[in-house]
Formats: sequence, C-alpha cells, structure tokens
Amino acid sequence: MTVLNSQVVLRSINSLVAFSVIVIFITFLFYQGHEVQPPMAVKHELKEIQDEVAADHHKQPRGKEAQVQSRAELPDATKECNWSTGRWVYDNMSRPLYSGLKCAFIFPEVACDKYGRKDVMYQQWRWQPNRCHLPRFNAIRLLEKLRNKRLVFVGDSLNRNQWVSLVCMVEASIPDARHKMRTFNGSLISFKALEYNATIDFYWSPLLLESNSDDPIGHRVEYRIIRADRIEKHASAWRDADIIIFNSYVWRRKHKADMRMKVMYGSFESGNARLDKVEMIDGFEIALKKLTEWLGENIDKNRTRIFFAGSSPTHSWASNWGGENSNKCLNETEPIYKVGYKAASTDYSMMEKAKSYFGTLEEKGIHIQILNITELSDYRKDGHPTVFSKQFAPLTTEQITNPASYADCMHWCLPGVPDVWNEFLYGYLLYK
Ligand SMILES: *[C@@H]1O[C@H](CO)[C@@H](O)[C@H](O)[C@H]1NC(C)=O
Ligand SMILES: *[C@@H]1O[C@H](CO)[C@@H](O)[C@H](O)[C@H]1NC(C)=O
Ligand SMILES: *[C@@H]1O[C@H](CO)[C@@H](O)[C@H](O)[C@H]1NC(C)=O
Ligand SMILES: *[C@@H]1O[C@H](CO)[C@@H](O)[C@H](O)[C@H]1NC(C)=O
Ligand SMILES: *[C@@H]1O[C@H](CO)[C@@H](O)[C@H](O)[C@H]1NC(C)=O
Ligand SMILES: *[C@@H]1O[C@H](CO)[C@@H](O)[C@H](O)[C@H]1NC(C)=O
Ligand SMILES: *[C@@H]1O[C@H](CO)[C@@H](O)[C@H](O)[C@H]1NC(C)=O
Repeated sequence: MTVLNSQVVLRSINSLVAFSVIVIFITFLFYQGHEVQPPMAVKHELKEIQDEVAADHHKQPRGKEAQVQSRAELPDATKECNWSTGRWVYDNMSRPLYSGLKCAFIFPEVACDKYGRKDVMYQQWRWQPNRCHLPRFNAIRLLEKLRNKRLVFVGDSLNRNQWVSLVCMVEASIPDARHKMRTFNGSLISFKALEYNATIDFYWSPLLLESNSDDPIGHRVEYRIIRADRIEKHASAWRDADIIIFNSYVWRRKHKADMRMKVMYGSFESGNARLDKVEMIDGFEIALKKLTEWLGENIDKNRTRIFFAGSSPTHSWASNWGGENSNKCLNETEPIYKVGYKAASTDYSMMEKAKSYFGTLEEKGIHIQILNITELSDYRKDGHPTVFSKQFAPLTTEQITNPASYADCMHWCLPGVPDVWNEFLYGYLLYK
C-alpha cells in the first residue's frame, strides 16, 4: 500500500477573500480493505407539518419498510421540488443506511468508526428538502437500473469518497461475497455486482484534463500542470459508460495567495509546446471548456447520462462557525443549524461556472445534471474523519493531539454525508 499525504497550511489573504486550508490526503489503496429535534433558528408551519409526516414514516420499524414503500419511494411528483435547500433532521430510525464496520469495500481513509471515532450521531442525520422528501434509497432497484450498465465516477478523492459510499450502499444488499468484487487497475477502481452485471467504477482524474497529477499514487507535485487540449487518454476510460459523474473542486483551490496553475498548449513532440501560468480559477474554466467540447462531440445523448457533483466544502476554519481555528473540525458532533448557512471559505461560484459551460450543450439535447450538494454539506462540520482514519498508518498519540496539523476536515466519514449525495443521484436516475 502506498499513501501520500500532502498538507499545506494556508495563510489568510484578507478578511474578504476566502481563505482555506486544503489538506489533501491522497490515498491509493491496494487494500481490501431522543427523537430530539435540534433547535432550528427558523421554523414555519409548512416545515412542521412535513416533519410530522417524515417522522411518521421514518418511525416504521425496518421490517415494515415494504408496507410504506409505495408512499416513501415516490417523490412528490406534483410539486417541482428543489432538493438543495432544506435541513438536517436527526433520525436514528432510518439512519445509517449501512454499517461502516460491515462494508467489505470501505477505505480506511473514511472508515471513522473503525479508526476510533466513538460518537455516532454524525451517521444519523437525514436530509430533508423544504417542500418534499427525497426518494427513499432502495439498493435493489438501483442495481436493477444498472443491470448490464456501467456507472463511473471521474475525478478526485472526494468523488472517490462518493464512490465508496455508493458501493457500501449497494453491497449491503448483496450478502453473498461471491456475487460482488472489486478490482484495481491503475487509475481505475472497479466494483461489480455480478448477478446484475452492474459496474460501479471510480477513475482518478483530479484535474479532468491530462495533467502531471494523473498518477493515482505519485501525484504530489510542486506545480500543477494541465494540458489544455488533452483529454482523450482519460476519456477512453469512460467514453463507453452509461452514467458518468464528474467532479472537480478542491484541486482548483489556492493553497496560498500566489498559487497559479500552469497550462501547457501543444506538445513537445510536435515542437509547439507553450507553457502559460494562469489563475487557478482560469485553469478550471480551461478544463470545463475542453470537457464540454468533448462531450458535445462524443456523447450519445440517447445512451449516456451525465452528472457533475457540486463543490464539497471543507471545515478547516472553525472560526467560520464560531469555533477555535486550531481545533479545525475536531470534536464537532452536530451540524450547523443556522438556516441558509454558507461558509465564507466555500466557493459556490465554481458550480455556477460549470453550469453555464454545460448549458451550452442543451441545444444539442445533452443535459448535464448538477448534483447541488454544497449547502447541505456546508452545514455538516461534524461529518469529517478528523483524526479517526488511516492514511499511511494510524496517527500517533502525538498527532492525534495536534488537530491543526493532522485533522482531515475535507473528506467525509462513512456512513455519512456522501450517502445523501448518492440519494440525489438515485433520485435523478430513477425519477427524473
Ligand atoms: C435513538 O435516539 C433516541 C433518543 O436519543 C434514543 O432513545 C434511542 O435509543 C435511539 N435509538 C437507536 C436505535 O439508537
Ligand atoms: C434551488 O434553489 C436555489 C436557492 O434558491 C437556487 O439557486 C437554485 O437555482 C434552485 N434550483 C432549482 C433546480 O430550482
Ligand atoms: C454487461 O455490462 C456491460 C456494461 O458494463 C455491457 O457492455 C455488456 O454487454 C453486459 N453483458 C451482457 C451479457 O449483457
Ligand atoms: C488495465 O487497464 C488497461 C488500460 O488502461 C487495460 O489495457 C488492461 O487490460 C487492464 N487490465 C486488466 C487486468 O483489466
Ligand atoms: C436518439 O433518439 C431519437 C428519438 O428516439 C432518435 O430520433 C435519434 O436518431 C437517436 N439518436 C441517436 C444518435 O441514436
Ligand atoms: C476532543 O475530545 C477529546 C475527548 O473528549 C478530548 O480529550 C480533547 O481534549 C478534545 N480536543 C479538543 C481540541 O477539544
Ligand atoms: C445550489 O444550491 C444552492 C442552495 O443550496 C444555491 O444557492 C446555488 O445557487 C445552487 N447552485 C447551482 C449551480 O444550482
């Protein structure tokens, strides 16, 4: 097993410019690896009625799930509902959706309970959109939907976090170990539900374009260099997929004020290589432009569904929610309850940019669905591994007492927040 762990402590730029600590834990593993309602600042009548309905159907014992399914599974088709705005409801009857300790394919980087996290509330929150319910996740229905199909997540370690979540969500419904498998091949990790011939893959490609960070193990580089017009090598790994979920966010964030992205045009082979230095955000646009172009020319809209996962916020600056910065998100056990909370350090504009690029494909009939999970994740300062995960080796006692340097407040414990991202994905695949 080889693991690299790079960590960069950021300086604040000024009070207005969002600053952030990005701790990039890059782990590649050849490894098997009180119905108490939280106090809400705002509560209006509509919400209360919905809560009763929700609490009611979630109180059904698990064994009775079948009986309530027809109701619980149907999203409110009559109402155009916006899943992205809502709140977290503590619900230890319906949560968690699986056991992290029992998931055969979980990764140590997100297996918090296995690595010493003792509190469990972080596993027991359900996302409640404001005017409707999310469809109830049903692994068998998803596997049926994926029969003879290939779904692939393409991106960075946050997308891999979502992939691990989805694999755990479905593998719990395949009790026989002979009917499921996972393989590693370079940048590709593949999960198969054999009886369904359903494939759920993850492909490492943190900058989407070809870059000097493409090695799934050795990508700790001083400068990030993308190749403005090269995506084909990566695309060959996912062009035949039926469902693709891209992401790209944390690798675009600045570690320090003067951080730039290097962009290479042309090639050394043809003698026209040119290297530019651009703002990180411009590097993002260059990637979006090329990806959009490629999809427009190559995607069979009758066959392939495409998603783009929204920005996943980090909780490395505790002062965002009134805490001590030196603790980062350590010992946080509850979400932020302030309705409409958006951390200053979370950049919502990048998703808007992605949306506007992808919007140009609509005229070709290609629709790229954004999984808008940023705000709901922004509330969840309690959801990160902090010091309870394994990178190279479990952290030493000394490291555990130094959260400022060692707490991971970027990835997400599983079961946890990415399970909801996958509920969005499930909802779109089955109902929209
Ligand atoms: C759920 O939470 C309530 C209130 O905290 C507690 O009484 C109950 O034992 C919990 N149930 C489970 C299954 O954890
Ligand atoms: C959902 O609500 C947010 C905030 O009001 C809005 O920005 C977004 O466009 C809405 N999304 C849809 C699909 O209506
Ligand atoms: C199994 O699934 C793959 C897609 O992952 C598909 O190409 C292949 O045709 C399927 N096999 C059968 C026998 O349907
Ligand atoms: C691994 O991936 C490469 C393409 O990158 C492919 O040629 C090769 O067949 C794969 N190996 C296995 C064992 O699937
Ligand atoms: C996609 O489906 C439409 C309607 O069924 C059909 O007219 C069109 O030819 C299909 N396009 C391709 C590329 O298969
Ligand atoms: C976190 O909680 C542990 C156990 O309760 C405690 O020993 C430690 O001092 C706390 N750390 C911080 C930074 O609050
Ligand atoms: C995502 O949802 C948030 C509200 O949660 C909204 O402010 C934002 O505009 C939405 N972004 C996109 C790209 O739809």
